[in-house]
Amino acid sequence: MTDKKVRVGVVGAGFVTARGHIPAYKRLPNVSVEAICDINVERAKAVAEEFGIPHVFADFEEMLEQVDLDLVSIGTPNRFHAPQTIAALEKGCHVLCEKPMALTVEEAQAMAETARRVGRKLTLGLHHRYRPEAVVLKPICEAGELGEIYYARASLMRRAGIPGYGSHFTNKELAGGGALYDIGVHILDLTLYLMGYPEPISVSGKTFSIFGPQRKKLGRWGADIHPGPARFDVDDLATAIVKFDNGAVLHLEAAWAFHGRSEQRVQLAGQEGGAEIYPAMFGSDQPLRVYKDWGDSAVDITPELPQFSVRQQARHIENFVNHLDDPEPPSALATPEEGVILTRILTGIYRSAEAGEEVTV
Ligand SMILES: NC(=O)c1ccc[n+]([C@@H]2O[C@H](COP(=O)([O-])OP(=O)(O)OC[C@H]3O[C@@H](n4cnc5c(N)ncnc54)[C@H](O)[C@@H]3O)[C@@H](O)[C@H]2O)c1
Repeated sequence: MTDKKVRVGVVGAGFVTARGHIPAYKRLPNVSVEAICDINVERAKAVAEEFGIPHVFADFEEMLEQVDLDLVSIGTPNRFHAPQTIAALEKGCHVLCEKPMALTVEEAQAMAETARRVGRKLTLGLHHRYRPEAVVLKPICEAGELGEIYYARASLMRRAGIPGYGSHFTNKELAGGGALYDIGVHILDLTLYLMGYPEPISVSGKTFSIFGPQRKKLGRWGADIHPGPARFDVDDLATAIVKFDNGAVLHLEAAWAFHGRSEQRVQLAGQEGGAEIYPAMFGSDQPLRVYKDWGDSAVDITPELPQFSVRQQARHIENFVNHLDDPEPPSALATPEEGVILTRILTGIYRSAEAGEEVTV
């Protein structure tokens, strides 16, 4: 825990920083948000005014040069995550970088290597680990109640939720990928976190782009939506099989848009028990079930879930700020090394889809 004053600079004045990061920092007594930058400086000025942020920049490098910062919070299009993270780390700042970590494995590795070398903390915006179900299930997994997990299903499917049509979200050069990269990363991370982040060895994937090119099934949140026609050269559905060196297999699926019920599901099958997070099936009050045998009887366990007054993203940010000086931060804080594993899997799925065969990662 730290009571030290933490001076924060925010990069990007869009949806995730204005509605997520900044309100989360503002509620922490030892944190002051000192500066914000956005290439759209009018947007940065408006956010600065809303939250009382004293320094506004159009240029990220200028912000780093001119303001003394302890922590930089990055919420820009994916393409800028790696260069901005590395520059902020080199300047001696801790960094919270939004997901997905980077466009390539090499970039992700460089981010992790820089954080190690300069001795600063780097975490990623992977806050599904703070969902009540995950908060309860993680210690159950760690206690070995499920035994070795040999099969998992991770699914995050939206019926209609393409974000920012025509913006960076649907532009491969800026985003690196579509539904898989944007939301698949969340459910993949949550599942791997519960499995104890096994080492991936290969993936076989397939991606589809059905509704985006037709400007159909657009979501209403996030970046600006263009009237169209506009660029859409990413996936709106992806599915993959991931194999791990411990013999485990994971089936991943993610969609921004498809003809079907929106749902999120994580299913873990272990040798001693199983578990399932499945709000669409079990209801949002008790979305978690644990499956065990009790003697000769099969039992379903529905653990009580904690009620949090603060949203998961804000709890994630609070946890990060509280453990900046901690040599062994809590496992709920995604590490750069875990980010590298995610990037290997996600970019591997795109490579596999292109090659039409399984690839090593
Ligand atoms: N963790 C989550 O749940 C979550 C939720 C939403 C978005 N995100 C991530 O946050 C990032 C931004 O998403 P968003 O929805 O806020 O997008 P957005 O379009 O609303 O905001 C992005 C902002 O970045 C600015 N920008 C672009 N290039 C820049 C640069 N080089 N330097 C400074 N500013 C720049 C844009 O002008 C824009 O204001 C993406 O990586 C996205 O995946 C994460």
